[in-house]
Amino acid sequence: PISVLITAGPTHEPIDPVRYLSNRSSGKMGYALAEAAVRRGAKVVLVSGPTALQPPPAAETVFVQTAQKMRTAVLDRWEQATFIIMAAAVADYHVAQISEQKIKRGGPLTLQLESNPDILADLGSLREASGKSSPVLIGFAAETENLLDNARGKLTRKRVDAIVVNDVSLAGIGFDSDRNEVTIITATDV
Ligand code: CTP
Repeated sequence: PISVLITAGPTHEPIDPVRYLSNRSSGKMGYALAEAAVRRGAKVVLVSGPTALQPPPAAETVFVQTAQKMRTAVLDRWEQATFIIMAAAVADYHVAQISEQKIKRGGPLTLQLESNPDILADLGSLREASGKSSPVLIGFAAETENLLDNARGKLTRKRVDAIVVNDVSLAGIGFDSDRNEVTIITATDV
């Protein structure tokens, strides 16, 4: 069968034992895609950040917390996939020094952040280096302005086959919604 690897949800980037940095992703998009791929007979691997959702029982689900762990889970499996759909809202930064103890209240607090790896861009590079056209790489973009230009930029920069653009500024679609409206940009649209 066709093998589809799907990432979903946010990532949690720890600050201390009780706190983390994250974003508003619910995971609904990635889980719905996993469900749809299962229904169409694909072998599905769902790499999921923390969500409140039930994964489809027929999918093999790998739960991860951080962007770094998501990257490892994806890179361990990418060559077996026919399609990779990166629906996860991967945190772009992690806290440089995670506090081992709970940080106590005090005056102003500064957290130093460091960039996370761009998993999708890494996949684009790995695939290019392999000289193959497989797996098909599909990314998502959550935008609030210049939707199509930003999506074209991401397609080219990350060397992927398609970018699914959401306008997260519109009411009724976007984060945590059961409905969505997207534009799909492919190489022929650049
Ligand atoms: N992505 C990823 N690894 C990251 C960040 C994003 O794999 N560290 C993937 C997402 O899963 C999504 C796509 O890349 O499929 C969109 O990423 P986005 O954060 O919108 O792209 P950026 O180039 O980081 O642009 P922006 O400045 O809008 O954050």
